[in-house]
Amino acid sequence: MRLVNVSNRITIPRRAAAPGGLAVGVLAAMRARGGLWFGASGDCVANAADITPKLLERDRVTYATIDVPEELYTAYYNGFANGTLWPLLHSFLGTFHYSASEYQAYDAVNSLFACHLAPLLTDTDLVWVHDYHLLPLAHKLHDAGVRNRIGFFLHIPFPPYDVLRALPVCPQLMRSLLSFDLLGFQTQGDRLNFLATATALWGETVVGSDGAVAMAGRRTMTGVFPIGVDVADIEKSSAESLKSTSVKQMQAGLLGMPLMIGVDRLDYSKGLLERFAAYREFLEVHPEQQRRVVYVQIAPLSRADVRAYAELRAALEQSAGRTNGVFAATDWTPIRYLNRNFPRNVLMGFFRMARVGLVTPVRDGMNLVAKEFVAAQDPDDPGVLVLSSLAGAAVELEDALLVNPYDSSAIARAMQTALTMPLDERRARHRRSMQVLRSNDIHQWHTRFLRALDPIGFEHAKPRRAAGS
Ligand code: ADP
Ligand code: F6P
Repeated sequence: MRLVNVSNRITIPRRAAAPGGLAVGVLAAMRARGGLWFGASGDCVANAADITPKLLERDRVTYATIDVPEELYTAYYNGFANGTLWPLLHSFLGTFHYSASEYQAYDAVNSLFACHLAPLLTDTDLVWVHDYHLLPLAHKLHDAGVRNRIGFFLHIPFPPYDVLRALPVCPQLMRSLLSFDLLGFQTQGDRLNFLATATALWGETVVGSDGAVAMAGRRTMTGVFPIGVDVADIEKSSAESLKSTSVKQMQAGLLGMPLMIGVDRLDYSKGLLERFAAYREFLEVHPEQQRRVVYVQIAPLSRADVRAYAELRAALEQSAGRTNGVFAATDWTPIRYLNRNFPRNVLMGFFRMARVGLVTPVRDGMNLVAKEFVAAQDPDDPGVLVLSSLAGAAVELEDALLVNPYDSSAIARAMQTALTMPLDERRARHRRSMQVLRSNDIHQWHTRFLRALDPIGFEHAKPRRAAGS
């Protein structure tokens, strides 16, 4: 059995990896099991007729990418994927828009993926499709004659039917999901929303007591597979990278003050404006903390051509500027705001030296940064995670300081609690959180999903490194 992962964005060796939880999770599965990873290159081709997959072999993984015509890709990626599905699935109806031509482009790009992936598949391949960019892909692969088992994992939330039905093509997209053999969700809440949508569209009889959906002779299993992180790897790399130049520079710049850190793609789902407002409130309510703490917010630009993202960028610059204008001293900058990427090990070193991790999305499927922050801590002197109760990670990380991300006063209070928490309590919370992370790390995530997708084939295909090792 060969594993074939399919996602819009893939991590191509020797190219800078764009931030995003999907690529981090799939890369771990590919490194453990080998196989084929198929996706879009990010480059463009003039005509769809000229597309030929580019193949690159590295360490038992074949990376296969296609270039897509620019206009088509823009309507698919900026338009339907990130202007329609992203806000809809995160329940942001105020940001959501619908355009029939963008939906056509989305459908066409899915057809291109199917048409160029199908010839690369062999009969025994296990195909695993990732995220909202590729909802119709199994249906298209069936049309192209593929009969392999095909699974799908949604990295982002699945909303209630009452939200989803704002989408004119909701019934078609939902129907095409039933071409998958297994649908995986981050939380039980997401899975139940999907099953309630299936019931609303097709009646109670289609949903079995085991959570499978049966229609027109096909049966689609559903399951909950919360994505994890590579705990052992993060523990090691966070400690090692304390010696790196970037981490030492950050340490020197703190001048002995505790660090509060946030690391998020610049996305309106991440609650950054609310977090900045909370920090202002924190400085007002606790004037004794002024010049006593450093807040570093790392927010690499993401989907910059989508209007809502450009607007958010401008609003964040204004908000950070205002805070710094009001509170800065000649020797102190309240918010250090950086729109850039860092190597992964450096980021883990930043987490390790931080006293507080701020992860307050207003909605998030899981949020890997929350888990990375915990895994990167020094167990003898751990920092404290302030976590949104509306992130999927809150289901597992009950020992974080959980906050409502819309409640700036609650976040401000949590900042103070985290900064003043006694060492014993920090250690106890960290110990319990680490137990949770270890019991569901990234290797268990792909192992559990693939076993559920093909229990028999899976037993005959051992990974090249044992799960969890
Ligand atoms: P999302 O998938 O919505 O971006 P997650 O928190 O699940 O959110 O995953 C984000 C991933 O991207 C994490 O693994 C994080 O470490 C990584 N990341 C975020 N910001 C940066 C950055 N500035 N440089 C490098 N990696 C980043
Ligand atoms: O994890 C959610 C996700 O949307 C992934 O699907 C995606 O790869 C990542 O965030 C980053 O977004 P993008 O690929 O648009 O840069």
